[in-house]
Amino acid sequence: MFGNSDLTFETNSAPPFRGGGVTILAIESSCDETSASVCVDGKILSNFIANQTVHEQYGGVVPELASRAHMQNIVPVIDAALSTAFPQLPTPNSRLQTIDAIAFTQAPGLIGSLLVGTQFAKSLALSLNKPLIAVHHMQAHVLANLIGDDKPEFPFLCLTVSGGHTQIVLANSPLDLKVIGETIDDAAGEAFDKSAKILGLPYPGGPLIDKYAKEGNPLAFKFAEPQIPELNFSFSGLKTSILYFIQKQEPGFIEQNLNDLCASIQYTIINILLKKVKKAVQQTGVKNICIAGGVSANSGLRTALQEMGEKHHWKTFIPKFEYCTDNAAMIAITAYYKYFAGEFSSLEVGPTARAEW
Ligand code: KG4
Ligand code: ZN
Repeated sequence: MFGNSDLTFETNSAPPFRGGGVTILAIESSCDETSASVCVDGKILSNFIANQTVHEQYGGVVPELASRAHMQNIVPVIDAALSTAFPQLPTPNSRLQTIDAIAFTQAPGLIGSLLVGTQFAKSLALSLNKPLIAVHHMQAHVLANLIGDDKPEFPFLCLTVSGGHTQIVLANSPLDLKVIGETIDDAAGEAFDKSAKILGLPYPGGPLIDKYAKEGNPLAFKFAEPQIPELNFSFSGLKTSILYFIQKQEPGFIEQNLNDLCASIQYTIINILLKKVKKAVQQTGVKNICIAGGVSANSGLRTALQEMGEKHHWKTFIPKFEYCTDNAAMIAITAYYKYFAGEFSSLEVGPTARAEW
């Protein structure tokens, strides 16, 4: 603990502005992707992601293995992000000297995974004497929509759909985000992954369902949609309904109907999600609509949202694929706004597995 020693950075006060660009090095390690990104003046110069394939054989992320893989990946990933951002600078040290602040994912996520990124960011901040910015992973998924030139205007609604969360967020400004609806049980990504598991597909099954759905009939099979009040979601019933349906079939049914099964499952999940988006637009009057999180990489969801937007005269925004799944660029862009708001962390900060916001 550094307590009140002069090693801590003042919270809520920005360091003196040096003129020129503000350069942020960001680290993401909340689950099973190790990522680092460099952002100058809100522009992403690099975004490196090391995927962990070790989990595939276990049908889900094994926390202990994830932490160990982060330990192995974090230095090469940060090195790659810095050398891509600053090819003109000859040494790692010269590249590190250009950094104005170090950002990291503080919550939520797997605690062992978060610890690796947090500890690395703190050590770097301490050794370089630079301020530290703690970022909330779900806030960052929403703000991934602010990367690039085609940004939504505020206020906007964001459907954030990942492996751990399903939320509708009302964004009034970059740092004024309010969750107005969320899942009461499984997340949309879990619905994809658990359904895929029932079909015998490996983890993570979401992208595979997406792939097979492209060749299937979305109306071939009908699965129950939950009736949940307000803007909340539920996905656990869908998983059970698919399981019971499959258990009633003859051997070989899955193999013979894989494309149609995937298309029908995907269609049901998208319907559940977009019905609530429509309701949120009706309730708030906000017609700028974004999506975020790993499931927003789903091609069916992207197309359906776009079509729905055209039909209802909404302005829809869909981040590039690389900014949908876990990545450090979204941490960097969030930190960029926090930097100017003076939202810095002390070196005492620690990770939190579950975090409300
Ligand atoms: O945001 P993310 O990368 O990690 C979390 O914070 O959870 O989301 C991962 C989730 C997984 O459930 C994965 O299956 C799902 O996103 N996913 C997809 C697709 N790509 C990733 N689900 C459906 N279709 C996809 N193309
Ligand atoms: Zn995520």
